[in-house]
Amino acid sequence: METNITLVIGANGKIGKKTVKLLRDEGVLVRAMIRDQTQASDFEALGAEVVLADLEADFSAAFEGCQNVIFTAGSGASTGFDKTLLIDLWAAIKAINYAGEYDVQRFIMVSSRGATNPDNGPERIKPYLVAKHAADFVLQTSNLNYTILQPGRLVDETGKGLIQTIRPTEATEQMISRDDVASVIFYSFNHEHTIGTTVELFNGSEPISTALAPD
Ligand SMILES: NC(=O)c1ccc[n+]([C@@H]2O[C@H](COP(=O)([O-])OP(=O)(O)OC[C@H]3O[C@@H](n4cnc5c(N)ncnc54)[C@H](OP(=O)(O)O)[C@@H]3O)[C@@H](O)[C@H]2O)c1
Repeated sequence: METNITLVIGANGKIGKKTVKLLRDEGVLVRAMIRDQTQASDFEALGAEVVLADLEADFSAAFEGCQNVIFTAGSGASTGFDKTLLIDLWAAIKAINYAGEYDVQRFIMVSSRGATNPDNGPERIKPYLVAKHAADFVLQTSNLNYTILQPGRLVDETGKGLIQTIRPTEATEQMISRDDVASVIFYSFNHEHTIGTTVELFNGSEPISTALAPD
């Protein structure tokens, strides 16, 4: 059995799909975790393995043989705080725990801008930021080689590969394209110096390699 598989959790999401494509284009063995068989063909066409699992159930079997995990699932803006608890908090923590049990080497988490200090965020999304904060904390205090990416508001514009990690002052400028988040995931995956880092991400003017260069 292969043991150098990269599990993408939330593969059918907008960032997830872009991430799977970037990884497969480089020949990385990918296991795409989805919850609906009708979503499988897109991933199979890319040469990715597919695993069907629900984040609200036991999804530990998806971790068998995985060396790397990328968590980019989310409850989405149209669900209630019950799903914020079950997906953004509890499923993320379960994924971290499963990764530990299965000797996963690397864990890349898509968190959110503002997760480091939810008290400073908008009141409206505070429960979401608290969920992201707690999941980030569990990962940061685990034994996993983690990278935590905290993007600003996600937009669907074409990525330019230009970002910044300093939060813009104006809230309206605190955004980043999903393309560029996927590119940062891919960069982090390929660069060990990103291990142990937690960074906010926004559209900016620096190439990813410059913005994320080691200190
Ligand atoms: N929206 C923003 O402005 C923003 C800002 C900062 C960070 N983020 C974070 O960015 C990440 C991804 O963003 P995105 O735009 O790619 O999101 P997305 O398109 O909504 O993708 C989320 C994925 O999670 C999957 N998922 C949800 N519940 C599940 C369950 N019970 N079992 C299995 N899979 C489940 C969804 O599956 P289906 O495809 O089957 O629905 C979907 O594929 C999330 O972690 C989000 O919190 C978002």
